[in-house]
Amino acid sequence: MKIIQCKDYDEISTAAANEVARVIREKRRPVLGLATGSTPVGMYEKLVRMYGKGELDFSGVTSVNLDEYYPISPDNVQSYRYYMNNKLFDRVNIDKNNTYIPNGNAADPYDECAKYDSVLDSLGKIDLQVLGIGRNGHIGFNEPDESLYLGTHVTRLSDSTVKANSRFFSEGEKIPDRALTMGIGSIFKADKIILLASGDSKKDAVKQVLSGKLTTSCPATLLNLHPDVTLICDSDAM
Ligand code: GLP
Repeated sequence: MKIIQCKDYDEISTAAANEVARVIREKRRPVLGLATGSTPVGMYEKLVRMYGKGELDFSGVTSVNLDEYYPISPDNVQSYRYYMNNKLFDRVNIDKNNTYIPNGNAADPYDECAKYDSVLDSLGKIDLQVLGIGRNGHIGFNEPDESLYLGTHVTRLSDSTVKANSRFFSEGEKIPDRALTMGIGSIFKADKIILLASGDSKKDAVKQVLSGKLTTSCPATLLNLHPDVTLICDSDAM
């Protein structure tokens, strides 16, 4: 695993945005694997700024997001569809028909997972996958467990994840305790992965990733098996 150690969050965001920008410029029809959460917000801001300056063209980009809460409506401000529209898709010239996120409103979540795997299969491969990391080492919503899934699946969120993500919800608002998430196998189909970590709440998870041990109780440790992963982090997360 390569490591880019940054001095602060802004530097992480710049380094991550530069990686994404490079793939968009190099590939004719780039496929980006995108993540949500607070960590990539700065990266999206920088990408929008590059687009505004005429430095990036998203017209040929296809994107696949890692996950979505379930059940949740796409127009709910807490949904990852809303997040992506708001932070990136509505602010650049991407064709929204080419942006994929699991449908948190699907009547049958298992059928939705199978459909999402078909989408991933039809795209072939992901050129660059952006990942954040949960405090407990989850990637996407692949939570620590005795076994993990290769493909897209319905997952129950751990208490620690529900607690960590409750900061985005207003008081009294129900936080979904399930999600639809791409599996570890799909994440591994990416040619290149960047793993972003900022702040000392990520320190324990990052320590495990760098410990040299693999364990499904910290799913991000499995990234050590992928041939091209770059950890972009600040000193607090290290
Ligand atoms: C969420 C997302 C993950 C994200 C993680 C960390 O639960 N499903 O994709 O990486 O939590 O979020 P944050 O960046 O807000 O710490």
